[in-house]
Amino acid sequence: MTDTGPWWREAVTYEVYLRSFVDADGDGLGDLAGARSRLPYLADLGVDAVWLTPFYPSPDHDAGYDVSDHREVDPRLGSLAEVDGLIDDAHRLGLRVVVDLVLNHVSSAHPWFVAARAAGPGSPERDRFHVRPGRGVAGELPPNGWPSIFGGSAWAPFGDGEWYLHLFDTEQPDLRHEHPEVAADAVATLRFWLDRGVDGVRFDAAGSLTKDPTYPELPAGWRPGDPAPYSDREDVHEIYRRWARQLAAYPGDRLGVAETWGGPEVIEPYLRPDELGQAFAMDPLYWPLRPEPWRAGVDALLAATARHDRLPAWVYGSHDVSRAVQRWGRDGARAMVLLMLALPGAVYLYAGDELGLPEVALADDEIRDPVFRRSGGTDRGRDGARVPLPWTTQPVPYGFGPDGSTPWLPQPAGWGDFAVARQVDDPASTLALTRAAVSLRGTHWRGRPAQVSWLEAPADCLAFRRGTDGPSCLVNLGDTPIDVRPYGDRVLLASAPVDGLMLPGRSTAWLC
Ligand code: GLC
Repeated sequence: MTDTGPWWREAVTYEVYLRSFVDADGDGLGDLAGARSRLPYLADLGVDAVWLTPFYPSPDHDAGYDVSDHREVDPRLGSLAEVDGLIDDAHRLGLRVVVDLVLNHVSSAHPWFVAARAAGPGSPERDRFHVRPGRGVAGELPPNGWPSIFGGSAWAPFGDGEWYLHLFDTEQPDLRHEHPEVAADAVATLRFWLDRGVDGVRFDAAGSLTKDPTYPELPAGWRPGDPAPYSDREDVHEIYRRWARQLAAYPGDRLGVAETWGGPEVIEPYLRPDELGQAFAMDPLYWPLRPEPWRAGVDALLAATARHDRLPAWVYGSHDVSRAVQRWGRDGARAMVLLMLALPGAVYLYAGDELGLPEVALADDEIRDPVFRRSGGTDRGRDGARVPLPWTTQPVPYGFGPDGSTPWLPQPAGWGDFAVARQVDDPASTLALTRAAVSLRGTHWRGRPAQVSWLEAPADCLAFRRGTDGPSCLVNLGDTPIDVRPYGDRVLLASAPVDGLMLPGRSTAWLC
C-alpha cells in the first residue's frame, strides 16, 4: 500500500475561519498572530493543511470576502510579515498552507470600483465590471431579473441610468474577467501568494467568474441550484486552465481547489488534467442520512473524479453552512466524520466542528451576515456557525482573546463546556475522536485503493472496504444496534461505545 501522488490527494485540511479562531490583540477579531500561535494545536490534531479564510484589507461587508486589496493584509488581522511567519512556522510543523483568493468580485471600496462609480456611464473604468443600462423609461429598473445569491436583485444602480452586477452583496461588484486588466491582475495576485510560499489556493465562488454576455433572463421555474447563465459555464474553464499553468510553474505540487457547489457533473470539468487538483463536494452535506443516497452519491462522485484520476474533496463543514451538529445531530456528526475520513479523497474540516460546537442562535442585532439583511430576515445567514471558538473554560471570551476583550460575534452561555481545554484530555470527547480518526486514517485508509466496495449490510446501514481487503467502515444510520462481527475482529475506532460487539444507532465503527 503506497501513498502516491501529490500531498493533497488525500489530505485532511482544516479550515481556519480566521476571524473566529484566535484573537491575539484583543480587538475582538481573530487574527494571523492568533492563528499562528495555535498551529501546534492543528499539528497535534494531525491535519495536513490549514486553509486560511481571507485576511486582506476589507470593509467587512461580507466578513472579509469583500476585498479592497488582494495583495495586502488587513492591519486588523496582521501584516505581510505575519503571513510569512505563519507560513514558515506551519512548514516547520509539517503543515501546508492554503489561502483563499476571492477573484470573482472586489469590495466596493476597491480603487477600481471607486473609479468606476466616479467615471460615469460608458466609461472604460466601468468596463472592468458587469455594467448595463437599466430598463424602464429612465433606467429605473434592473437590467434583468437575476437574483443575488444573498437575496434580492443581483443588480444595483449607479444612479445615472447604469447598473452593476453583484452576485453576492451590493458591496461586492463582480469583475469582468474578459477584461485584460482584470485577467492580468488575477494572475498577479495568484503569483504574489505563490511567491510567498503558500502550498495551495482556494478559488472562492469558483464557478461564477464568467457570465453569459447577453445576460439572458433565467428560465421560468428556475430555482437556486439549477444551472444559471452565471455559473459553471464552459468558458470559466479557460480561466482555470490559465491559473493551473501558473500553479504548475511552481515547485512542490501547489494545489488549486475550486469552491464548487454542485453534483458530479459540476465538479468533474474542474478536474480535467490541465485544470485543478480538487473541487469541493458540498452536496453530501445535504444527502439524507440513509444508505441509498450515500451509496449512490459516493459512487457517482468517485466515478466522476476518477475520469481524471482525481479524488473527491469531501467537505464536512464550512463557514457557509450550518454546524455539523446542527445538520446531523450530535451522534450523527461524530458518525459522519468517521465516514468521510474513511472514504477515498481529501477531507475539509471546519474549525470548531472538532469540538462539536453547536449552531448558535444569535439575536437579530448580533447578526453581521449580509444574507440576513438581504433576505429580509427570512434567512438568518451563516453567523450561527461562525461564533468564536472556546479555548478555555474561563468566562467570555473563553480564551479566544485576551481577558476582557469582546468577540465580534457573542459567545453563548455555557460555551466553555465545549472548550479545547475541557476536551483535550477526555478520551470520550469529540476532539479526541477527531484526533484519533485523523491519525488512524493515516495508517489504515490513506493510500488504499480508490474503489469503494460496498458490503452487505443490515437495513439503515452502510458498510464498505476500499478495494478487496483491508479495514472496513460500518455506519449505522438507524436506531437499532447492529452486530459488528461480520465486518472484522477488532474495532479500530468507533464514534460511540461498542458494547458487547453491538454498534449503536447513529454511529460508525472502523474494523479490521
Ligand atoms: C464564498 C465564500 C462565502 C462568501 C462568498 C462571496 O461562497 O465561502 O463566505 O460569502 O463566496 O465571496
